[in-house]
Amino acid sequence: MPVIGVAIVAAGRGARAGGVVPKQFRLLGGKPLLRWSVERFARRADVARIVIAAPFERRQDARAACAGLLPEPEIVVGGDTRTQSVRACLHALSAGEPLDLVLIHDAARPFVSDVVIERVISALEDADAAAPTIRPADALKRIETDGLLGQDIDRDAAAAVQTPQGARFPALLEAFAALEPEADLPDDIAVAARAGLRTVAVEGDPDMFKITTPSDFTRAEALLVRSQPRPRVATGFGFDAHRLAAGDGMTLCGVLIPGALSLVGHSDADVALHAVTDAVLGALGEGDIGDHFPPSDPQWAGAASRRFLDHAVGLAAASGATIAHADLTLVCERPRIKPHRSAMRARLAEILGVPESRASVKATTTEGMGFTGRGEGVAAQAVVTLTWPEAEAPAD
Ligand code: CTP
Ligand code: MG
Repeated sequence: MPVIGVAIVAAGRGARAGGVVPKQFRLLGGKPLLRWSVERFARRADVARIVIAAPFERRQDARAACAGLLPEPEIVVGGDTRTQSVRACLHALSAGEPLDLVLIHDAARPFVSDVVIERVISALEDADAAAPTIRPADALKRIETDGLLGQDIDRDAAAAVQTPQGARFPALLEAFAALEPEADLPDDIAVAARAGLRTVAVEGDPDMFKITTPSDFTRAEALLVRSQPRPRVATGFGFDAHRLAAGDGMTLCGVLIPGALSLVGHSDADVALHAVTDAVLGALGEGDIGDHFPPSDPQWAGAASRRFLDHAVGLAAASGATIAHADLTLVCERPRIKPHRSAMRARLAEILGVPESRASVKATTTEGMGFTGRGEGVAAQAVVTLTWPEAEAPAD
C-alpha cells in the first residue's frame, strides 16, 4: 500500500462565486464545503497526512471546518495563485515521513468519488502523474478575442481536467522545484508535464464538478437532495361487512355503542377495526385478517377486535414502518355514527399509536340502497399508508 499525502487547496478568494465568505468555507448541506472533500480523503487507510492551504485570515475557519477528522489536517497559508498554494502544501508535506504519492485536490470540488481516487492511484503504478478527465460531449470551438467563434477544436483530442490529481511525490517535488518561482500554471499536471514527467488521463466523474459560480451551489444542493435516501411508501386497503341483528349494543371502531342492535360475527364483529387491520396487513403485504386469526380457531370467538389491529400494528413496527395515515369510512344506515365519531377517531389514533391528525373516521349511507341501505348490515372501508426509511424497507 503506497503512503499518500493529500494537499487540498483552499486559499482562493472565490471571486466568481460571490458572497462575503470564500466559497470553500460556505455551507453545503450544513457542512463547510471544504469538509466534504477532506472527509473523503481522511477515511482512507492509505492517507498518512492531509495539508490544507488556506488564506492567512481564514486559517481558523479551515481548522474548524475539519474538526474531529483524522489524520488531523495541517493548515498552511496559501499563496496568490493556485500554483503557489500547492507549492505551500508540498513544502509542508516534504517535511516528515517520506511519502510515495501525493493527491492534490481543489477544496471547491466537494463530491470526490472514491472510485476516481482509486483510478488515479492505480494509474500511478505506471505513470508519474495522473488526472481525472471528462470528455466533452459538445462540439468545441475557439473563441476569438472579439467574441467571434473561431476554428473547430478536435473534440476527440480534448478533455476537461478535474482533481484530485495525483503524482509520485518525489517526482512532483522536483517538478515544482524546477518551476520559476512566479509561474502560475492551470493545474498540477501542467507542472508535471513541463518537467517532462509522464502524465496520464483517467476517467473522471461529472459529479466532481468545481463550484465556481453561484449556480454551482444550487446544483450541488440539488445533487445532495437527489442522493438522499428516499422513503418507501405503501398504501393498503381494507374492506369488511357484518350483519346487524337484534341485540344489546355493539363495539364499532373500538367504541361501545349501546342500543338494541348488535353486529354478528365470530369475534366482536367490529367491522371498522377489521377493515383497518386488513388495510395495515395489505400495506405490509401480509395477507389478510383471516390468515392471522382464522375464524375456525375457537380462541378468537368473541375476541375484542383491537387485538387484531394491535397485532397488525406490531407487524408494521417490526418491519420498521411508520403509520403515516389511516382513513376509515363506515357505510351504514344505522347505527348513527355522528354522535360517536370523535370517540372513534380518538380510539383509532390510540390503537395505531398516531396523533389524531393522522387518523380519520368518516361515515356515509347508501341512501336506502343495498344491504347497508336496508339496514341489514354495516360495511367499512379503510386506507392505511405506511412509510419506511429506505434502509429499513422490506426487500423489493
Ligand atoms: N486556490 C488556492 N489559492 C489560490 C487560488 C485558488 O488555493 N490563490 C484554490 C481555490 O480555493 C479552489 C481551487 O484552488 O479550491 C480552484 O480554484 P478556483 O475554482 O479558481 O477558486 P478561486 O480562485 O477561489 O475562485 P475565483 O477564481 O472565482 O476567485
Ligand atoms: Mg481562481
